[in-house]
Amino acid sequence: MSNDPKHPSLPVGGRKIATPGGEFFLIDRGQGQPVLFVHGFPLDHSMWNAQLDALSPDYRVLAPDLRGFGRSDVTPGTVSMATMADDLAAMLDALQITEPVVLCGLSMGGYVAFQFWRKHAARLRALVLCDTRAVADTPEAAAGRLATAERAVSEGSAVVGEAMLPKLFAADTFKNNPTLIDQMRQVMATSPPQGVAAALRGMAERPNVQADLPQIALPTLVIVGEHDAISSPDEMRAIADGIPKAEFQIIAGAGHMSPCEAPIEFNGALEDFLSRRLPI
Ligand code: MLT
Repeated sequence: MSNDPKHPSLPVGGRKIATPGGEFFLIDRGQGQPVLFVHGFPLDHSMWNAQLDALSPDYRVLAPDLRGFGRSDVTPGTVSMATMADDLAAMLDALQITEPVVLCGLSMGGYVAFQFWRKHAARLRALVLCDTRAVADTPEAAAGRLATAERAVSEGSAVVGEAMLPKLFAADTFKNNPTLIDQMRQVMATSPPQGVAAALRGMAERPNVQADLPQIALPTLVIVGEHDAISSPDEMRAIADGIPKAEFQIIAGAGHMSPCEAPIEFNGALEDFLSRRLPI
């Protein structure tokens, strides 16, 4: 349970923080170099639970619910990836964190990480890009997202979650870890429909950042599940090849949700990267 007396039912380290742009929920645990974990779509901070547990003895781990997700404020309409990046900067301000952070984003969280780099590069010490893409949506994919946004509002978030589910996990995860699948299904079904729709519209208009990759002068870990059906290992390898100081890691046996599907292997790769590239 929470250590925030005003919100006793929140998870450990959970707190709400007010920023000029709205109120956000985040997990804030541990001490030391801040590592900011940014979740994928249509999920919330809890997809990082295994990373928060593993890293919080040595790092200050921060895992917000992005605008429109989990317990954070919802803004109907369109929420761009750049707005989400600005929200993260505002959260760091509210927490009075001025030192550069490690930003670890998965999929939509990676789109937000690219925008954070574009707008707030001085606040970054390193990047971890997980199961994400540098390209923009094709016109067909963008049109599909806009239609899905309408469905989320009219039929609810569960419809979106059920459509996503088959693409999120490796076949072995469906077979061997039904508890994880159920947890994710539950999170997706309870995501606020207006938040889901606003993020879909924001993803549909996100820019192609491929031309930015050579300018990213940060230690960067590019990490992907072997069977990722949304952002393939080949596509992720091309991202790593484009970033001068990047290294590339494939998580064997995992799909798109590599941090949840193979937490031991994922955490090993992450901790190894942090200890080598950012010695404490
Ligand atoms: C995610 O996991 O965040 C989504 O797959 C992103 C997307 O739909 O492009």
